[in-house]
Parts: sequence; C-alpha cells; structure tokens
Amino acid sequence: MFAKDAVALVTGAATGIGLATAQAFARAGCDVVIADIDAQRGEQAATRIRELGRKSLFIQTDIAQPADVLRLHRQTVAAFGRLDAACNNAGIEGQPGLTAEASLENFDHIISVNLRGLFVCLQEQLKIMQSQASGAIVNIASVAGLVGFSGLSAYCASKGGVIQLTKTVALEYATSGIRVNAVCPGAIQTEMIDRITHKDPAIQAQFSALHPLNRMGTAVEVADTVVWLCSSQASFITGHALAVDGGMLAR
Ligand SMILES: NC(=O)c1ccc[n+]([C@@H]2O[C@H](COP(=O)([O-])OP(=O)(O)OC[C@H]3O[C@@H](n4cnc5c(N)ncnc54)[C@H](O)[C@@H]3O)[C@@H](O)[C@H]2O)c1
Repeated sequence: MFAKDAVALVTGAATGIGLATAQAFARAGCDVVIADIDAQRGEQAATRIRELGRKSLFIQTDIAQPADVLRLHRQTVAAFGRLDAACNNAGIEGQPGLTAEASLENFDHIISVNLRGLFVCLQEQLKIMQSQASGAIVNIASVAGLVGFSGLSAYCASKGGVIQLTKTVALEYATSGIRVNAVCPGAIQTEMIDRITHKDPAIQAQFSALHPLNRMGTAVEVADTVVWLCSSQASFITGHALAVDGGMLAR
C-alpha cells in the first residue's frame, strides 16, 4: 500500500525489469518518474504509465554522469514535490571474459554504471527522503552479487558492492524513516539476457536449468517484489538482499 499520490522513481525504466517496475508502481497507485539513457524508449515508457492513469515524467539520464543524476532528482522534486519510492535498476552486463584477460576499460565502465552511478543516485534519494523523514529504496543487485559466475568478475564485483552498499545505507538511515533493500534476480527474460544468450534456444535452456523452477524469471516477477518491498506491507524489512531466483541459490 502507498499513500495517495505517492511518487516513485525508476532508473533504467525504458525497458526490461525497470519498465515492468515502473508499470507495477503505477498500478499500485504511484506517479512515476522514468529515468533512462535511451530518450526514445524512455518517452514511450512514460506514455505507457500515463495510459495507466498516473502522472509520469521521463528525464533522460546517464547515471554514470553525476550531473545527470543531480538534475534527475532536482527535476523530480520540482515536478512532484516529493519522492516516496526509488528503484535503482539501471545496469549493464559489460563484456564477459576471464579476469586476467579482461580490459580495465570494461571494469571501469561496469563499475561506473552499476556501482558508482547507483551510489550517486542513492545520495540524492537519501537527501530528499531525509527531508520528508520517510521513503523506501530498492537497489537491483543480482544473484551474481551473492555467488561468483566465471567470466563475470567485474559484474559480480559491482553487484556484490550494491548489496554491501544497501546494508550499510539501511543501517545509516534506519532511524530516519528510510528503508533500503536489494533484490537479487536470477536470469530474467529481458533484452540483457537476449544479448547474453544470443537468443540461442540451447543456451536459453542451459540458463533455465540453472533454476530449480527450470525456467527463467519474468520482469514482472521482479517488479512485483520491488513494489512490495517499497510498500507499507514490507514496513519491517530493511537491509535485506532478497533473491528472486527460482530457487537457484537454494542448491
Ligand atoms: N536480466 C537479468 O537476467 C538480470 C539478472 C540479474 C540482475 N539484473 C539487473 O537488473 C537490472 C535491469 O536489467 P535488465 O535485464 O532489465 O536490462 P536491460 O538491458 O534489458 O535494460 C536496462 C535498461 O537500463 C538502461 N541503462 C543502461 N545504462 C544506463 C545508464 N548509464 N543510465 C541510465 N540508464 C541506463 C538501458 O537503456 C535499459 O533501458 C540491471 O541492473 C541488471 O544488472 C538483470
């Protein structure tokens, strides 16, 4: 449950898990700020939110650029006056490869978006939510932040960093009325997974088999978890990293 006219912000909301999360917030009664590097699909996402009967604003943002992140949050407050929920979802997979052969450029790029960019978003969201003495944040990490995956060292490091950031920030702001959690998806059917599997049915079957439920997850399954964690129904949950992984890590 959300207060009347609650405002949610989702980064990387032009497609995939971010778009599904923005739509789930709208269905739960929130107005939604869409942030994404992709202007065309970002505007389309905002239109889809308005079609659900909620207000929506697209703000083109590269979260790796602190000036963009500052502008995003300034414009959010200017347009809506508050921020009740934030989902820091924008992320990239980078180039796979064994660690000794991996390029430093790839490492820096992944960290600059997945970890440093998310950190700057968190800073701005915390300032707004502190002034309200309320708010909830969900950071999208990954099962790759909880266990290692060969060939993905920079990605795993970035997502492990997101989980530790989440726990630390949750402790720092627990008495300020702000809850901070992470969601750790398994393989979810989005364009990111299409790029990784090259849409090859044999590779897709291997990915499905990683999960005891023997399928990949859907963006909606992650989105519903994010919205629940931000809602008053999860009011005693903070500092948690919740795997939405079809049982992958239960093995
Ligand atoms: N799909 C999966 O299997 C999976 C699994 C675990 C975690 N995740 C994480 O979930 C999040 C979303 O993944 P997805 O599968 O929906 O990805 P996706 O590639 O389908 O969509 C990502 C969105 O983020 C945007 N984006 C990329 N870089 C950006 C930047 N610098 N600034 C702003 N926006 C940017 C893209 O334009 C796109 O709209 C990512 O953080 C990803 O690491 C995905």
